[in-house]
Amino acid sequence: MNYNKELMKKLSDCFAPSGREKNIRDMIINEIKDYADEISVDTLGNLIARKKGKCKKILFSAHMDQIGLIITHVDEKGFLRFSNVGGVHAKEIIGLRMVFDNGLEGVVCSEEIDDKEKVEMSKLFLDVASTSKDFVKNNFKIGDMCVFKSEYYETEDCVICKAADDRIGCYILIEALKSHPKTDNDVYYVFSVQEEVGCRGAKTAGYSINPDLAIAIDVTATGDTEDGIKMDVKIGEGAAIKLMDKSIITHPEVKDLLTDLAVENNIKYQYEVLEFGGTDAGPIHMTRDGVPSGVISIPTRNLHSSGEIFNKSDVAECIKLVQAVISK
Ligand code: CO
Ligand code: ZN
Repeated sequence: MNYNKELMKKLSDCFAPSGREKNIRDMIINEIKDYADEISVDTLGNLIARKKGKCKKILFSAHMDQIGLIITHVDEKGFLRFSNVGGVHAKEIIGLRMVFDNGLEGVVCSEEIDDKEKVEMSKLFLDVASTSKDFVKNNFKIGDMCVFKSEYYETEDCVICKAADDRIGCYILIEALKSHPKTDNDVYYVFSVQEEVGCRGAKTAGYSINPDLAIAIDVTATGDTEDGIKMDVKIGEGAAIKLMDKSIITHPEVKDLLTDLAVENNIKYQYEVLEFGGTDAGPIHMTRDGVPSGVISIPTRNLHSSGEIFNKSDVAECIKLVQAVISK
């Protein structure tokens, strides 16, 4: 399957931090409306597309939200104080440009501090590039959210963009739905909300759908560099089948199922153990009396930065693995 640059660029550029997913939900509905049998939005905001079937209920989940910052206070000088929405770390954002839903921007600045490694969020502020108190007062208020500003870029084999976590998962599900293989299975494509603040959307979606099998599609870290984290996953080495992270120990039968499907269908795969983080599979596998669950991960460098990097051929392998699960 050819990589669809326009679609991924659109998904990555879409402003939708946790709890503010309307933009991306509308965009995805528009993208998939001709392909699904049913489309619904639940109370929390999860987008659920269904391809009806009489056999097993399969749930796929990719989260629509992205990490960002939320304004906590606008000070007298017109600087914006903020807190994090999801996994944003103070020492990693100094100097970065942020953008709000209305297109206005700010740059993350820091008070004088001795040790930048130990900087806390309370020492940071957004400078929105204006000396006009009215401009600041009229345009920024407590509760407003912003996200990294960064432009989509690609080489022959890889992509740099923001919010690959987890817009690349959304991309994979959109492409899988567009090419939905013939099957008797009852397939639910969930585009979930609020993953980055604790997999909240997946919790209600898992409960209401009550599937026989659940697979989350999300990014994972890599052990590509010499002194980086010790991890087996590498970009360019195929779809990663998760064995464990902080939210799930993959059901042995799901691990075997995904492995067998990868082997049967000549899909390049690797195993993943992630020593931090979790995915939508976390809450879903503990729904009701338990749901056999697993994760297909896209190996991604620089997670939660403004320049996450993934490999296009890994994405193609992930789509093939999703399709293999659908037809099983
Ligand atoms: Co994330
Ligand atoms: Zn994610």
